[in-house]
Amino acid sequence: MRAVDIIAKKRDGEELSAEEIEFFIQGYTSEDIPDYQAAAWCMAVQLKGMTPAETTELTLSMARSGQQIDLSDVAPLIADKHSTGGVGDKVTLALGPLVAASGQPVGKMSGRGLGFSGGTLDKLESIPGWTAEISIPQFKEQIRRVGLVIAGQTADLAPADKKLYSLRDVTATVPSLPLIASSIMSKKIAAGANVILLDVKVGDGAFMQTMDDATALAEMMVAIGRLAGRTVAARVTDMNQPLGLAIGNALEVKEAIATLKGRGPADFTELILAEAAHLLHLCHITDSLEAAQALVRQKIADGSALRKFADFVAAQGGDPHVVDDPDGVLPSAPVVIPLRSPHSGTLSAVRARAFGMTSVALGGGRAQKDDKVDPSVGIVLQAKIGDYVKQGQPLCTIHARTQADANMAAAYLLPAYDWSPTPVTPPILIKKTFDAH
Ligand code: URA
Repeated sequence: MRAVDIIAKKRDGEELSAEEIEFFIQGYTSEDIPDYQAAAWCMAVQLKGMTPAETTELTLSMARSGQQIDLSDVAPLIADKHSTGGVGDKVTLALGPLVAASGQPVGKMSGRGLGFSGGTLDKLESIPGWTAEISIPQFKEQIRRVGLVIAGQTADLAPADKKLYSLRDVTATVPSLPLIASSIMSKKIAAGANVILLDVKVGDGAFMQTMDDATALAEMMVAIGRLAGRTVAARVTDMNQPLGLAIGNALEVKEAIATLKGRGPADFTELILAEAAHLLHLCHITDSLEAAQALVRQKIADGSALRKFADFVAAQGGDPHVVDDPDGVLPSAPVVIPLRSPHSGTLSAVRARAFGMTSVALGGGRAQKDDKVDPSVGIVLQAKIGDYVKQGQPLCTIHARTQADANMAAAYLLPAYDWSPTPVTPPILIKKTFDAH
């Protein structure tokens, strides 16, 4: 077999066999196939697409390119939830403890911020002492003991994806649906969970900008999961405005803790309750979705989800008092200023991407790979789409390192808002559900 023939076959729009895909992916991982051939192949895939069978073979080949974690000795089912990335998306922080407190073990590997979208590890690292660096034996031990572990990806998990992802980043081949679906699913499959709920974000602050693309990605990932023998369901959820009110690492941890105390913003609370119940039902913890919904509400009301969060934080070296005194334990920014509305009217746009970019510009994300993030900075919304604001009323508060940074953020954020003279209906949060069965 020769790489050049496989590239030519895809260039001509033909379907590759499982053997050809395996040859290409293992050859690229072992460096027998150079970057320039892999780049040409990615572009051929971008332009000609892949069949569901090819996408599944690609996913499985990438999962096989490194370590595959076997969690079957830990619990009969391990749950995972994955978001395709958004702004203010702190779902994992609240959903993980909620599901674990309801009796279903959760073991997942999370990532760091990427572009305008935040990362779960960056958020959790704002808790003093908390670490994502966990060995596989520790990962398993913590699932057994605490029922919840969130770790950074080990270097050997789907290394073919790691190489291909950085190549795609610089060859204009990131937006290919089969390449995105296989990239996400190869890591999920290699990480060992057998029940996976995917949250495909759609809108201004998401990778997928249209419902058609988000639907196609969700369907593709659910189909791959089924062919790979995993239970996978997906939801397409709104990311036109930030999720909840807080954007920024420590600010989002505070909001997740408030939500576990039953005092979270309405949209974020709705989403975590719905997704936690869905995951519990998929794992057969309850007989019906209604029973799962009642269970998660009870786990918030009786404080057990909050206690699970504290146990999880302590197990990974963090200060568990963060749940009792988030303001005292978490870092806070020295400059906090309101951004006031220049008009009266009903908010008709609060564009998520601008908030993500501004949080990064304040120091909450990275401009370059090795930058250190500032956990304290960010933005807290005081109004969302559909809310009426009077001229001079705060739209949000900006948490910054300096007054100059805060002024810069205010200048970036004002154009992210639109006002309407007439009432505006807020966007529907959960737009579509794709069940595993
Ligand atoms: N997230 C991934 O892990 N891979 C992609 O290709 C896109 C988003």
